[in-house]
Amino acid sequence: MNPNRLLVLYAHAAPHLSRVNRRLADCARLSEGVFLHDLYETYPDFYIDVAREQALVAQAEVLVFLHPLQWYGMPALMKEWVDCVLTESWACGSAGNTGSGGAGSGALHGKRFWLVASTGSGADDYAVGARHGRPFADFLAPFEQTAALCGMQWLPPHILHAAHAVDAATLDAHVARFGELLQGLAAPSPLNLGHSAGVDNGI
Ligand SMILES: Cc1cc2nc3c(=O)[nH]c(=O)nc-3n(C[C@H](O)[C@H](O)[C@H](O)COP(=O)(O)O)c2cc1C
Repeated sequence: MNPNRLLVLYAHAAPHLSRVNRRLADCARLSEGVFLHDLYETYPDFYIDVAREQALVAQAEVLVFLHPLQWYGMPALMKEWVDCVLTESWACGSAGNTGSGGAGSGALHGKRFWLVASTGSGADDYAVGARHGRPFADFLAPFEQTAALCGMQWLPPHILHAAHAVDAATLDAHVARFGELLQGLAAPSPLNLGHSAGVDNGI
């Protein structure tokens, strides 16, 4: 099995304070066929080795973003990674030129993208008229369209809302479901690739 088949990019600015994402990162770290890449540990100075990152991504079949939602988006270093690594000439390119992964070749085309994120607010806070004013799915649009522009297949996100408030059993179930989905994606059979449509809340 390709040990880097699944590349999990983990971004948490204060992992020692994490209740949810640190558990998920530990789960990914122990999963076969998964490379857990801790961005804040690797690049505390925010200077990203773009060539190294592009080589890692090129080897992967599934790209996973694992992080808490921050101001309706990704943490700063995750965004820096996207800005620096997903250069237009490398990451986009034409759908037909998927062979080498070189410049302009559509290096991400055909790979799958999976967002695994947590929110502090509860699911009910994400609605018209509620605290955050919009359905949660609206905030996924930038992620989904980034994947689309790069020719990546969008997988149903695995989201845990109310990260600080859920009880231990719910958190355990969320982590366990993540592990199952991860193993399904890591398995070579295409039969194991799809999980159900829509956001997977993992509980
Ligand atoms: C700077 C910052 C911004 C945040 N923005 C949001 C937000 O936009 N929406 C939300 O629901 N929670 C937000 N949160 C809460 C985090 O998403 C929450 O603390 C995290 O998902 C918990 O995961 P952890 O236990 O791994 O830290 C924010 C937290 C921080 C520190």
